[in-house]
Amino acid sequence: MAIAQEEFTDARIETFAIPGARVVYGKVFPLGIRVKTEQSFASIDEAVTHIEGLADRGALDLLLRDHGTILFRGFPVANASDFSRFVQAFKLPNQHQEVGLSGIRTTVNGFVKTANEEPSDVKFYYHSEYGRSAHFPGLLFFFSEIVPEKGGQTPLLSSLELYDELKKQLPDFIQALAEKGVIGRQYFPAKDDPEAAHIGWNWKDSYGFDIVEGDSMEEQHRKVEVVLRERLHAEGEWQPNGALYVLQKLPALRRVESTGLPSFFNGLMGVYGRARDNEALQAPYRGLDGKYHLSTTYGDGSPIPYDQLDKVLEIADSIGFLVPWQVGDVAYIDNYTVQHARTPWVGDRSLLVSLWDGREKFVAY
Ligand SMILES: [Fe+2]
Repeated sequence: MAIAQEEFTDARIETFAIPGARVVYGKVFPLGIRVKTEQSFASIDEAVTHIEGLADRGALDLLLRDHGTILFRGFPVANASDFSRFVQAFKLPNQHQEVGLSGIRTTVNGFVKTANEEPSDVKFYYHSEYGRSAHFPGLLFFFSEIVPEKGGQTPLLSSLELYDELKKQLPDFIQALAEKGVIGRQYFPAKDDPEAAHIGWNWKDSYGFDIVEGDSMEEQHRKVEVVLRERLHAEGEWQPNGALYVLQKLPALRRVESTGLPSFFNGLMGVYGRARDNEALQAPYRGLDGKYHLSTTYGDGSPIPYDQLDKVLEIADSIGFLVPWQVGDVAYIDNYTVQHARTPWVGDRSLLVSLWDGREKFVAY
């Protein structure tokens, strides 16, 4: 696409048009970057040196800001260790420290984790990474190490385009979100609850960083509440069965500081889609999967009508975009302006992730 070609020139790599890519605010989304023919890198070292040069020039920051996602194809990234070197070449300020994981991840090396180990038949709906938390990464890298026989894709959408579409098609919903924000709720069982292993996470492992051997239950609760309050601006509600509800009141719409554009940044679709699939839309919100899918409400506690959320999911699908993974692809995603999803798969799949704090900020909507 002409838009992409004009703005980036380099001796060894070039932009390429991804068939069917969208145009958002005049820029292709996502942008492809590939190694030029007969310019292939002999080793990961050579590729890293080249990427470092681009990072020093600030070229990657600008491309990402304009395009939301860059798909790197044809680079010599073959395994977790190459991927770790590749992401460090971007010279980003800080690796993101996750707080309150409610997914299943394994650390592969210092900078790399598995994306999510929940079963291959589970569909993840579009979400901003940690969009239901006050503490979220700015930048995500995904590395496609093994592509399964079928599925296992990572659909993307522009949160800027989604905002604009929703404002056009569901103006009352956008206005209500703007006025009230949302309250997300998450269920964390006690670690010794037999359900905890099935659910995959528990409050002690997700928030109990300061708990030491011998702490009374009361002391453990107090320490968890401090983490929630001070690191996440969240509240905890202890349940009679020893579980914890984490309540997080947040805006659902924000404005990107560098561009001034409004973004639909939240976890609404991820939570609702999964609850719907699991028939967990009514109290006690326990799903067919045996997990709890507590509903997100408006910030005043009033329910968000499900028919509105159904429509939001439809609109998201209408603007969603999929770049089929090839082995060795690395996607670099601006979490501020792009939401991602996960399709179920058949066969072996390895998708690795690296999360970073970027230089971007949100300002009030
Ligand atoms: Fe995610």
